[in-house]
Amino acid sequence: MASKKQTARRRAEALRRQIAHHRKRYYVDDDPEISDGEYDALERELRELEQAFPELLTPDSPSLRVGGEPAKAFTPFRHGTPLLSLDNAYGEDELGEWEQRLRRRIGDEARPSYVVEPKVDGLSISVHYRDGLLQRGVTRGDGEVGEDVTSNVRTIRSIPLRLTRPTPALEARGEVFLPRPAFERLNRERLEAGEPPFANPRNAAAGTVRLLDPRITASRRLDCYFYELAALDGELPERHADGLALLRELGLKTNPLNAVCEDLRQVRDTIAEIERRRGKLPYETDGAVIKVNELALRREAGSTSKFPRWAVAYKFPAQQATTVVLEIAVQVGRTGALTPVALLEPVQLAGTTVSRATLHNEEEVERKDVRVGDTVLIEKAGEIIPQVVKVVTARRPKSARRFAMPDRCPVCNAPAVKEEGEVARRCSNTASCPAQRREALLHFAGRGAMDIQGLGEALVDQLLAQDLVRDIAGLYDLEAERLSELPRMGEKSAANLLGQLEASKQRPLRRLINALGIRHVGERGAAVLAQALGSLERLAEATEEQLTGIAEIGPKTAAAVTSFFRQPANHELIERLRRAGVRTVADPSELRAAVPSDSPFAGKTVVLTGTLPGMARSQARARIEALGGKVSGSVSKNTDLVVAGEEAGSKLDRARELGIEVLTPEQFRERLGADKTFSGG
Ligand code: IVH
Repeated sequence: MASKKQTARRRAEALRRQIAHHRKRYYVDDDPEISDGEYDALERELRELEQAFPELLTPDSPSLRVGGEPAKAFTPFRHGTPLLSLDNAYGEDELGEWEQRLRRRIGDEARPSYVVEPKVDGLSISVHYRDGLLQRGVTRGDGEVGEDVTSNVRTIRSIPLRLTRPTPALEARGEVFLPRPAFERLNRERLEAGEPPFANPRNAAAGTVRLLDPRITASRRLDCYFYELAALDGELPERHADGLALLRELGLKTNPLNAVCEDLRQVRDTIAEIERRRGKLPYETDGAVIKVNELALRREAGSTSKFPRWAVAYKFPAQQATTVVLEIAVQVGRTGALTPVALLEPVQLAGTTVSRATLHNEEEVERKDVRVGDTVLIEKAGEIIPQVVKVVTARRPKSARRFAMPDRCPVCNAPAVKEEGEVARRCSNTASCPAQRREALLHFAGRGAMDIQGLGEALVDQLLAQDLVRDIAGLYDLEAERLSELPRMGEKSAANLLGQLEASKQRPLRRLINALGIRHVGERGAAVLAQALGSLERLAEATEEQLTGIAEIGPKTAAAVTSFFRQPANHELIERLRRAGVRTVADPSELRAAVPSDSPFAGKTVVLTGTLPGMARSQARARIEALGGKVSGSVSKNTDLVVAGEEAGSKLDRARELGIEVLTPEQFRERLGADKTFSGG
């Protein structure tokens, strides 16, 4: 009879195959066959099995995507073949000239076909797979030597940890990018936290890939398109298009807009098509890359020291315009942050009329020295809020007026103060500033929050003006009669809104937490808190120490959460939400898979010191956390266990001083219940 362990092993293998299949359908083919919930259930079942039988843990386990600890620095890595850059062509003439030069190299009789691909604006990366497993991810660096950013690359969900079939060795190159919605969310969060926003998604992606803490990288949702099969054990396919198809088959995402073209006319049409769709794509593109399809012809064409002659980047014209700053207004956000906004003489830019551009904060206004009356160069990165690139100082009129940030809220006149270490000035009237109230209500009703359809800007303004609502809990006291008296609001719309409000009471806990609008807590943070704590009551009672003990929750967020719940007004708010019938506990599906009750690490604080033979520290950490333990960096009286590897130093001495239990690497392995999995690896 098969032992429990054997059954578990078989089930884990089947789950891994299914997970790999559905991941590809979802992330690569963009054509899922099952719901997100069903997929999550598969991952959860595998995680549970791995917790019960840690020896089943493999390097491609979903529980190990984010296993890393903050690194001190990245290790340099020399690329097998250099990552070349691309020559640019601006406009059709230069594209024609490029083809002429190419033809001189490969001969007039040659009949090249081309592959045209969107030029995604991110940063290039090279990934290595060995025996089908993701082994390494390296940045481009100077083209010869890059940085080993494997722990961050592992957090990118569209990069599989395992290929769909075993492949002895493979290197693929691609572009890592931050999708536009993730970029916008990141910048919103940075502004709210008083941090400078990233100028564009490329900078944000580059900064994120090089973060030393992979947990932060994971939370930012990078994505990747692969564009070259660089090396393969055995022969490379003779055509680039076949290389791309192979990448896709193996689970490496390629851009669906890539197209094979038979001649330059088709190339031009494809470029025009990409440019036409440019504004609607969920990522930034600054052009198209045209590549010779046949590898034999590529070899004929050769490369200069910098560029291949068989490819060129066709650059789209920049989406920029100049206009005049009519006024610099100040907006008050949900958390009271005062944001300067340039009101512009309306101008056409990338197909829309632009009449305002954010200036982010007073430091930014000062740095760019933007004054009322100035002519400014504005830029639109896709559909993102336009930015002021720079002032055209030569056209500054004598009358240009400098901007001064008011020290009172422009809406409620309460003092606006700047807290230490913050860039943003905030209205101090958190309880009753109408602007903050308005934004708080809109945020509460928003899509990632309680998702109350029909409760948009116009209605919120009316509700506030008529004093029908003062805060978020007040929404649940609205009555049909009063509502239907509002302008443009009949009985039917009133009933609809009440229905929406009623339905919102059952939203998952993570949405409620997000809806509260606690500073530094966005959608992702709210989900993490809901999962770890399970109820609003427990969140309200959590100490800063408990909060920072949760993976992905940093000290700033922890401080913001405790400060939110310390305010009596917020206590009352939550009590009113609860009385209105809003659900404040998590659905079981929101909760972290339970830790086995007999886990030797459940609730224990563990310190790792020295090297553990055959086990990376990140793996050890992931295993301890998967078994319900917490890994801490320093030994104190709160430490339960110290694992002392080779060349353990002062931490071991301190543990002995404090009389804390110390485990050798062998004992640690035993306790993990996995004496073979990582040895010799
Ligand atoms: S091919 C030798 N294809 O553009 C081939 N590059 O300006 C070199 N890029 O460093 C790259 N999308 O980061 C290629 N579809 C694409 C691309 C692409 C974006 C980036 C890449 C490269 C830069 C060159």
